[in-house]
Amino acid sequence: VSPEQRTAEQEPTGLSRRRALGLLGAGVVAAGGAGGLRAAAAQAASPTVSDALPFHGEHQAGIVSPVQGHLHFASYDVTTRDRAALVLLLRSWTQAAAALTAGRELGATGALGGSELAPPQDTGEALGHTASRLTLTFGFGPSLFDGRFGLADRRPAALADLPSFAGDALDPARGGGDLCVQACADDPQVAVHAIRNLTRIAAGVAAARWAQLGFGRASVTSAVEQTPRNLFGFKDGTANILASDGAALDADVWAQAEDGAAWMAGGSFLVARRIRMLIEIWDRTSLSEQEQLIGRDKGEGAPLHAAAEHDPIDLAQLPTSSHVALAAPANHGGVRLLRRGYNMVDGTDGVGHLNAGLFFLAYQRDPRTAFIPIQLALARDDGLNEYLRHTGSSVWAVPPGVGPGGWWGQTLFT
Ligand code: HEM
Repeated sequence: VSPEQRTAEQEPTGLSRRRALGLLGAGVVAAGGAGGLRAAAAQAASPTVSDALPFHGEHQAGIVSPVQGHLHFASYDVTTRDRAALVLLLRSWTQAAAALTAGRELGATGALGGSELAPPQDTGEALGHTASRLTLTFGFGPSLFDGRFGLADRRPAALADLPSFAGDALDPARGGGDLCVQACADDPQVAVHAIRNLTRIAAGVAAARWAQLGFGRASVTSAVEQTPRNLFGFKDGTANILASDGAALDADVWAQAEDGAAWMAGGSFLVARRIRMLIEIWDRTSLSEQEQLIGRDKGEGAPLHAAAEHDPIDLAQLPTSSHVALAAPANHGGVRLLRRGYNMVDGTDGVGHLNAGLFFLAYQRDPRTAFIPIQLALARDDGLNEYLRHTGSSVWAVPPGVGPGGWWGQTLFT
């Protein structure tokens, strides 16, 4: 029995051995043999706790998971009209994602164990790196439901096209897409390695449309973490929904079967906006004006009328056009977003400014009652608009999590 056959037989995925061997040929199935843990030697030398997060579960990882330090987000166009090929890609991606998030090399032979005459099954740049709390979160864009794959009647109503908002300066090359993968990790090399290999595995079925790197988290989902700061220098994520708040997650983040699309139950809807921040203008604005615009003080992050970061907001005491007042749940029927954005700097704009900003990511149960009304209010009245340009936009149906043997999007296709 060859090592490849042994690995295929041992895969607890329910894949037929023949199909699994096919995936092995594509460099997909996680290695039990030559590949193994990328950082096994390092871990043996210092037996620390593994830094891998679980891949399988009721919900996909990467939504309420503690926010990691780095992001690589990628959007894909499906380039085939063959539904079976698309399904095979989703199965292959799921297998690869389980291996990558566990810190394993891809394929039976990994980066170095194969034939010298063949391209390696893993591209190798994550060798020696640990799992780094990598999460891979997968979603479907509205365009996937256009009829190419027999899914037109499966589009959730909540996967609504976003309206155009006042001041939008959207670049079509930075928006839309049929499929997305959000990779978050504490080590940027690990996040990039994951997206690179998923893109490689997709060859002939899906092609990268746009991608975004983020270098610093601008949100928090756990009460024990310190709130990080965005590129305006303010704490971001103070009033976010926390992973520990199960009632808020059920009310405002997880799609429910009774919402209309039963296949989405346990999933969520993601709005991704690339927001350029005109930091050079901001940096010439006085501290007190910056604080009036946000509605919180810069040091503590406390509401302007209060002393401590987590003191409750009193809308009557905040400037009505401050960002926090306009976005406050009390002004939107109590609806909240789970924000998971990242700071970004993409070089310069060619005329002397840093091309900096926020890659805003928000998970919610229904964008029609959450992101859309909040952004309509912000686009109309937010004093911050003078310093912001929304340059990219997309919306995604992020399906529920998968158990061992399941695959991304299985509830949609079966
Ligand atoms: C670059 C653009 C943005 C910046 C710099 C920014 C910054 C901030 C800051 C500093 C806070 C206060 C701290 C906190 O509670 O997290 C905040 C809160 C918030 N922001 Fe933004 N934000 C931006 C875009 C957006 C967008 C596009 C939306 C949604 C459409 C949004 C929705 C919210 C919400 C819901 C809150 C919490 C309000 C509350 O519950 O008190 N933000 N933002």
